[in-house]
Amino acid sequence: MRNGRPIVNSILLMLLFAAISQAQSIVSPDGRFSLSFKLIENGIPTYQLSFNGAPVIRESRLAIETKEVPSFIDGFSIETIDTSSIDETWEPVLGEVKQIKNMYCELAVTLIQYQHNRKLILRFRLFNDGLGFRYEFPVQPALTYFTLLDERTEFNLTGDHTAFWIPGDYDMNEYLYRTTPLSRVDATKGMSGKEIAARTVISPIAVQSPIMLKSADGLYINIFEAALSDYPAMNLMVDFGKMGLLSHLVPNALDHSAYLQTPAKTPWRTVIVAQRAADILTSKMILNLNEPSVIRDPSWIKPMKYVGIWWEMHVGWSTWRYADTNNIKLKGLDWKHIIPNGKHGATTERTKRYIDFAAKHGFDAVLVEGWNVGWEDWFGKWKEDVFDFVTPYPDFDVAELQRYAREKGVKMIMHHETSGSVTNYERRMDSAYSFMKAYGYDAVKSGYVGKIIPRGEYHDGQWMVNHYIRAVEKAAEYKIMVDMHEPVRPTGLQRTYPNWLASEAARGMEYSAWNPGNPPEHETILPFTRLMGGPMDYTPGIFRIKLDYTEQRKKEQVPTTLARQLALYVTLYSPLQMAADLPENYEEKLDAFQFIKDVSLDWDDTRILEAEPGEYITIARKTKNKESWFLGAITDENARPASLPLSFLDPNRNYVAVVYADAPTAHYLKNPSAYTITKYLVTNNTVLRLKLAPGGGTAVSFVPATVQNEQQLKHYK
Ligand code: NOJ
Ligand code: CA
Repeated sequence: MRNGRPIVNSILLMLLFAAISQAQSIVSPDGRFSLSFKLIENGIPTYQLSFNGAPVIRESRLAIETKEVPSFIDGFSIETIDTSSIDETWEPVLGEVKQIKNMYCELAVTLIQYQHNRKLILRFRLFNDGLGFRYEFPVQPALTYFTLLDERTEFNLTGDHTAFWIPGDYDMNEYLYRTTPLSRVDATKGMSGKEIAARTVISPIAVQSPIMLKSADGLYINIFEAALSDYPAMNLMVDFGKMGLLSHLVPNALDHSAYLQTPAKTPWRTVIVAQRAADILTSKMILNLNEPSVIRDPSWIKPMKYVGIWWEMHVGWSTWRYADTNNIKLKGLDWKHIIPNGKHGATTERTKRYIDFAAKHGFDAVLVEGWNVGWEDWFGKWKEDVFDFVTPYPDFDVAELQRYAREKGVKMIMHHETSGSVTNYERRMDSAYSFMKAYGYDAVKSGYVGKIIPRGEYHDGQWMVNHYIRAVEKAAEYKIMVDMHEPVRPTGLQRTYPNWLASEAARGMEYSAWNPGNPPEHETILPFTRLMGGPMDYTPGIFRIKLDYTEQRKKEQVPTTLARQLALYVTLYSPLQMAADLPENYEEKLDAFQFIKDVSLDWDDTRILEAEPGEYITIARKTKNKESWFLGAITDENARPASLPLSFLDPNRNYVAVVYADAPTAHYLKNPSAYTITKYLVTNNTVLRLKLAPGGGTAVSFVPATVQNEQQLKHYK
């Protein structure tokens, strides 16, 4: 919905001479931010950003290095300056809030390198939560096709801020966050030579965007990008001298960054700034900088809560592969002669067990991994032709399962592990999606484990960035929803492609199936970093915390309390959520499982009640078109008391609050499975007192009380 219209105050200025010009400034609609643009000596473009009168980004240069001479670095004059503003409201198909306000003041500076007759537009949008800007290359006689060597955008900061960061890497974002002063960034510290060789780590001073910063005087700053398309992802190099960050794009196989053709534009560079950490999480700037949905009728796009044949493989209880044979040739394989290993997870029978469980407990769908031939030899071989995405193992009866799932009213989610062989996937995408449709699947979980084929391309380079979008567009043609694992980090494109329900694109729960897992602070940092760009398929809900499925792993466990697992459904936003554990494990604790059954996936409203990266997060959300609310609170490895006024609730009614909490003795390492469940009547005057265990959490559901509830339940005191 759009109820606003751009107001263009066309201050069209022609500056005839301006090698060194006066600064051009705009302020945000609420007046708190100001952005100024200036050409400094030699016609070098720069910008500065202030918040409440104090600088946040000091004078910083804007430059693009091209193979064609000259680069877009200096020698510029200002040709025209345009300002405009916008105030509109729109509704996401699925989201954390029902309506999103898009309000900003814009400054567009057209620059010209007179000698070469080359033009560049710098477009700045100043919102009430910070700045977005991008480079645009308009159609011009002197430039058609060009090759980007790198982008050199500076973000010069005002001090040695605390930084929450992961190492710069062209291929991988499944890292734990490190918290250090910027001056102490050392990306390769703690990594073995083997690890560095196996990954595509850029340099000791490179970090990935988004980076979350906190200044000594308590200002929160998030630097990232929006609408990444036809361009590589942005890493950031720490410049210790300037105490700043400098962009560095992911290169391609030829060591170029991008190939562009005018008219072209870069993604938006974003600087979100807030006095309270909570306000970083409510920012909608990244979504606002993305284009509206290209899907005219999104009625087929639905939130999904699912279970699946998945965690049981990660913990070693079953296998993706059918046989324990290596180097099976996929082509011409006669499965009659292959002896199964007896541990294959994706059997017809086991899938039916999950379908029954999903139907009984009201889940939308069942994911099955390891259903298709290829898993005997899928990883690390750099083989082009591993999976064909249409050939089930002999013990997976796809037609019978279609019938069974339909009868039970459950959807199936297909799994496409590409093993990084993207040329193969692109060739087979049509047949794979047609196969899905023929067997009643309308959602796919895809994956990009391993090095990319074509060789030399990276997960986060321009070619792959375009591939992910091609895959989502192709899926949309088939009315298929997508959950991507191992793509480039999301940058708000789910607004444009709402069938792109979620991505993993960070270190998810799977790492907690393998020791030592994700420490509790990880989940308090993710919303400030990875989730800034979009929903994450984190796959929470682990109830069997001890990983004693096999003798060798008897002593291992997931670093969490059980109640915390419930809270994650609220603190980590996604319209696609998995209950990741095995049905058998849920059946032992159906009282706690009730929260996962009840929790919503799509929201009218979201309130960040408390938040501090690396320490704690408490969020309350109101169900889309319903009166129920859900609350999730998590802490790091420290215990945490909290007093939460429930003022967000409707003042005109009583609610039943079901509180799923850590037991008083709970501890994420020593006593993870101790939880309590209590029920009360609450109102919007209630102040809820929580006590989170070390590594723990609390989840609460609030449903309007019935007359019977009011008679039977006690008010919370
Ligand atoms: C990595 C994904 O994140 C995980 O969910 C999946 O099970 C494996 N790849 C195998 O495809
Ligand atoms: Ca993964």
